[in-house]
Amino acid sequence: MFQINENYQKLPGSYLFSTIAKKVAAFTEENPEKDVIRLGIGDVTQPLAPAIIEAMHKAVDEMGSAASFHGYAPDLGYDFLRRAIAENDYRARGCEIAEDEIFVSDGAKSDSANIQEIFGPDNRIAVCDPVYPVYVDSNVMAGRTGTYDKETERWSRVIYMPCTAENGFVPEFPKEEPDLIYLCLPNNPTGTTLTKAQLQAWVDYANRIGAVILYDGAYEAYISEPDVAHSIYECDGAKTCAIELKSFSKNAGFTGVRLGYTVVPKELRCGDVSLRDMWARRHGTKFNGAPYIVQRAGEAVYSEAGKAQLKEQVAYYMKNAAAIKEGLKECGYTVFGGVNAPYIWLKTPNGMTSWEFFDDLLSRANVVGTPGSGFGPSGEGYFRLTAFGSAENTQAALARIRSM
Ligand code: MLT
Repeated sequence: MFQINENYQKLPGSYLFSTIAKKVAAFTEENPEKDVIRLGIGDVTQPLAPAIIEAMHKAVDEMGSAASFHGYAPDLGYDFLRRAIAENDYRARGCEIAEDEIFVSDGAKSDSANIQEIFGPDNRIAVCDPVYPVYVDSNVMAGRTGTYDKETERWSRVIYMPCTAENGFVPEFPKEEPDLIYLCLPNNPTGTTLTKAQLQAWVDYANRIGAVILYDGAYEAYISEPDVAHSIYECDGAKTCAIELKSFSKNAGFTGVRLGYTVVPKELRCGDVSLRDMWARRHGTKFNGAPYIVQRAGEAVYSEAGKAQLKEQVAYYMKNAAAIKEGLKECGYTVFGGVNAPYIWLKTPNGMTSWEFFDDLLSRANVVGTPGSGFGPSGEGYFRLTAFGSAENTQAALARIRSM
């Protein structure tokens, strides 16, 4: 008789955004006349930029002719894309990352969930609290997190690093020593970030204790302040302790197209074992590459036209972020984020729990957001709104919140 992976049975509830989708579906079924504005999941709304569409069309045509048809992609991704990434995301910023340290994938969500499998089952993970749920849930599935305490909403073997208004959303080095440290900067969900000096301190700490930082840079394109690192490899010593995960979803609108990459530097070793070689083995065995058409679309992100068009797209969303932030402030809310990231993190009013505020906002303003407690116990009493809506919907949502 077969057995199941019992670790899945330990997962409390469903994936955060599935729970929200179900709640919203139930609300719209009961209130079909209500026009619901969705500022919950961080999904983009603007169409793909013209330079990207043009590259995709061209690639589709190539696939239609035997002379230019492409089958399986190379294990690590096409050279043209890895070259563009190395040049634009790294060398242009003074970081020496080689093409063969870059692994093209179908997105940072899957990479951030999969990367844990090259580490031993007994490694202790440390996460910011609140945190993008995928990091914890994927470690639960792998049996690395111990037991779940419903009361505290914490796993016994996970080290939580609270990030709240009280500590300026800056995680402190934990008392217990972690082996793997997840950092997402600029941060999802709080929309805040660390300065380069603060990040350097984490790199030094990881090198000192022999830990690996799993660095999620999905929101890097939204950085507007000068003393914020665009890559962890801007920090000295990061190549011996950090893996960087990047996405094309938020900077280029690829949430439905699917493309990302992971950097595993050759210097990152455990004794004489290269983590880069382990990830290459994993990638080669379990993944057949992102589609040629999508990788050509990714290459267009780095073209001159692509860069200019995407700069405008990012500015469009950040205008929404500023409008939400200012609008909420005017209504008396305490708000964070929205400067280097497309997320606004607000304190729920009148001592409401995150889910109470979710229900209140949905029923009275017909606006969907994300309850902070869904990201971890320290997210209780907070709420996230995304700037990825259209400008019209963002303004309409604000008007409704104002009249609540
Ligand atoms: C979010 O809303 O936190 C993100 O969009 C989810 C994701 O990127 O997978």
